[in-house]
Amino acid sequence: MLQYIDIQNLANRATWDEGRYYQKHRQESMSSLRQAVHLVGRPEQFLVVGVGNANDLDLPELVGMAPKVWLADIDRASVERALARQGLRKRSQEGAPEAVRQDFQERLRVWIGDAGGSAQEIDDFLRAVSPLSSRQRMERRPVLAEALQRLAQRVGDYQPGADEASVPEPGLPGTGFDFVVSQCVLSQILWPVAQAVWETAGIPWQEGQAKLAGGSQDPLYPELAWALRSLTLGHLAWVERRLRPGGILVLNTDVSWQGVPLYGTDVAAALTNMPPSQGRKWAALQPNGQKEWEWQLDEATRALVRSYRLKKASL
Ligand SMILES: C[S@@+](CC[C@H](N)C(=O)[O-])C[C@H]1O[C@@H](n2cnc3c(N)ncnc32)[C@H](O)[C@@H]1O
Repeated sequence: MLQYIDIQNLANRATWDEGRYYQKHRQESMSSLRQAVHLVGRPEQFLVVGVGNANDLDLPELVGMAPKVWLADIDRASVERALARQGLRKRSQEGAPEAVRQDFQERLRVWIGDAGGSAQEIDDFLRAVSPLSSRQRMERRPVLAEALQRLAQRVGDYQPGADEASVPEPGLPGTGFDFVVSQCVLSQILWPVAQAVWETAGIPWQEGQAKLAGGSQDPLYPELAWALRSLTLGHLAWVERRLRPGGILVLNTDVSWQGVPLYGTDVAAALTNMPPSQGRKWAALQPNGQKEWEWQLDEATRALVRSYRLKKASL
């Protein structure tokens, strides 16, 4: 059984050489980042989560945007390769004049870890459902439903301790970022769970996703919807804790593939369903802060990407 991190690693390896498909997506993504810089004025530090191969990011430009720039991902190998490909490792380590080297070393920080994607909980879920394929199809759905409920509860119940926000994760400041960019991470968090459910239950992906988006109350659908919403809220809560009061989240996410909606990526809906205690921490979706563009993932797949901009409530 593949673990969450293996799934990300494989996906990054598969898309490493696909730069030709990323041009427009990269332009739009970088434009959303520049707008965040513009909105906060002169950022002291910001964080980009989901750097991966950086096919969709101009890393040298990004590193020039603030005195401290944090690049984060769960997959170390892809980030290291991307830094080398875009000349940052080279610039900071070899050949470059001392002043340039110093400058890049001081600005650039890399953090490898789970950015609120509940990777451990997803792995436990995948482990619980993987033996089901040896059972009769009719027996699978109740067990799946139960495993989804457990996942939703574990993700939803997680409450950081009162002092957690001030305790930095190893190497990563606990809070204080002027803005955070979540670069197409959300769909990656949701996908392994939905995919495991369709495969195990024997439901075609397209049919399942459409029914889910339509609010189906058939067995399994409410549980899956609950689990996916909890994962989305978990990621939002993680980002919210990293931001300073008044800080900005730019969340870029693919919301549909081939016109089929990816349930859970609708951040506006997730915010509406947010428990009041969590919801109060976000000031609002910023007016005019939402934008969409098409992204041709490969010859066969067309995605719609939406960029959300949220502001953390000021103290
Ligand atoms: C679709 S890719 C984004 C595209 C990437 N910027 C590129 O151009 O290659 C999503 C990235 O999010 C990372 N990721 C997925 N889940 C994560 C998590 N829970 N925490 C941190 N990074 C995660 C993946 O490893 C991957 O690099």
